[in-house]
Amino acid sequence: NVLILDFGSQYTQLIARRVRELNIFCEIFPYNNPPVDLSSYKAVILSGSPFSVRADDAPHPDLSQIRGKLPLLAVCYGAQYLAHFSGGEVAPSNIREYGRANLSYIKEGEPFLEGVSVNSQVWMSHSDTIKKLPTGGVVLASTKDVENAAYKIEGETTYAIQYHPEVYHSTDGKQMLENFLVKIAEVPQTFTPNSFVEDIVAELKAKIQDDKVVLGLSGGVDSTVAAVLLNKAIGKNLYCIFVNNGLLRKNEFESVLDQYKDMGLNVKGVDASDRFLSQLAGIEDPETKRKTIGRVFIEVFDDEANQLEDVKWLAQGTIYPDVIESVSVKGPSATIKSHHNVGGLPDFMKLQVVEPLRMLFKDEVRRVGATLGIDAELLGRHPFPGPGLSIRILGDITPEKVRILQEVDAVFINGLREHGLYDKVWQAGAILLPVNSVGVMGDERTYEKVVALRAVESTDGMTADWVHLPYEFLMKISNEIINKVKGVNRVVYDISSKPPATIEWE
Ligand code: XMP
Repeated sequence: NVLILDFGSQYTQLIARRVRELNIFCEIFPYNNPPVDLSSYKAVILSGSPFSVRADDAPHPDLSQIRGKLPLLAVCYGAQYLAHFSGGEVAPSNIREYGRANLSYIKEGEPFLEGVSVNSQVWMSHSDTIKKLPTGGVVLASTKDVENAAYKIEGETTYAIQYHPEVYHSTDGKQMLENFLVKIAEVPQTFTPNSFVEDIVAELKAKIQDDKVVLGLSGGVDSTVAAVLLNKAIGKNLYCIFVNNGLLRKNEFESVLDQYKDMGLNVKGVDASDRFLSQLAGIEDPETKRKTIGRVFIEVFDDEANQLEDVKWLAQGTIYPDVIESVSVKGPSATIKSHHNVGGLPDFMKLQVVEPLRMLFKDEVRRVGATLGIDAELLGRHPFPGPGLSIRILGDITPEKVRILQEVDAVFINGLREHGLYDKVWQAGAILLPVNSVGVMGDERTYEKVVALRAVESTDGMTADWVHLPYEFLMKISNEIINKVKGVNRVVYDISSKPPATIEWE
């Protein structure tokens, strides 16, 4: 197990992902709230930070229990922190040190740099520079502009690097992490999807024993994988509830419910479309829509859960990024849209929470799902927001608008599949705009709805770019939508990136 101390860098999660790619388990803790017991950790990594070590309010953690006691790798801010407080010197740099650089010098015979060649590209992102190394410091690598790009401390297993090994632009970054963790710290590489499944199933059995568990399935990857894991651990004591809020994709409720049953899950489908749509009637504000859907979902779910006797646990498909966000250095980041799963448990459902996936990243959840034999098509599904089509119908929601959007969405998504484009896109969907436009069909003037198509590439939904779908494809889909879906006479394609736009329109 590896400990990553977070100083608030935007790249901290990436460090964790790179470490996990080496089949090594790791956990992120905020620097100001580290684990009390360090005995299970075999190595520690210090992250970067937006702060300058010279600032009074910068993170100044006590490393006395770590340094010299455990193998330590300090990245960027971490490297500066070690220098600044141990006899070195950190000062503002004269030139901007952002982006690509190449290692012009590499000290020979260093296990940390084994397999890394001179000229290897590294990614810099800092405005201070280490002018003088700390006591015992030995330079391991330099770039043209940064002499102390990597160093170690003589007599300790302490390594420090100014660049970011965790970003893909640092070509040998992963190699350096591997050298540090595997060669130097000798951390075993035993964290695989199979070992995870074995461990978590045993853990769930021990924790839950003969209690009953209720879980809300959404059709998405996370809740499905969580359900299959629990099913493996406790079998018939897992009760799944799949709610149709009337805002799912066309035919999705029926087809996903069938799939769940085929997977041997004990699942009850609850069609509450009318209840949701009647509560949503007339609401135009996006956040009010979300809150209404959240409230009605809890009411429906609670009604169903109350019909089950002696349930002790509520299972959730929470994954690691949600967990990290809720304990991060800065606290939960400012809410741009209210969609955080953590802490969403209403008081009146007095159940204990079990979250089998709370230590996994999304790609790991998919790999665990594959190990469990879950259908590749289900695992590869695009993300779909909890409030469903409601936030893709701008303005108020009516059953007729839902119908139109479901039809449009189905043409678009099926088209992506048929043209082999579905897996090249991270997320796609259609948006129904609250305007009519004039058109002409045959000899008739029409005055009908406009729909926008959106397809983005992304890795985590935090940033995204629009996909350059082939013109031929867009032409075909546009034609098909206008010909097939009554009430639509115009199709546009969204060419905005996030930021400054967001993926959804509301
Ligand atoms: P945005 O629109 O914020 O979307 O760029 C980023 C990702 O989050 C999804 N999203 C939501 N998911 N409830 C959810 O469960 C929501 O209210 C919600 N709003 C956006 C969005 O589909 C994308 O994957």
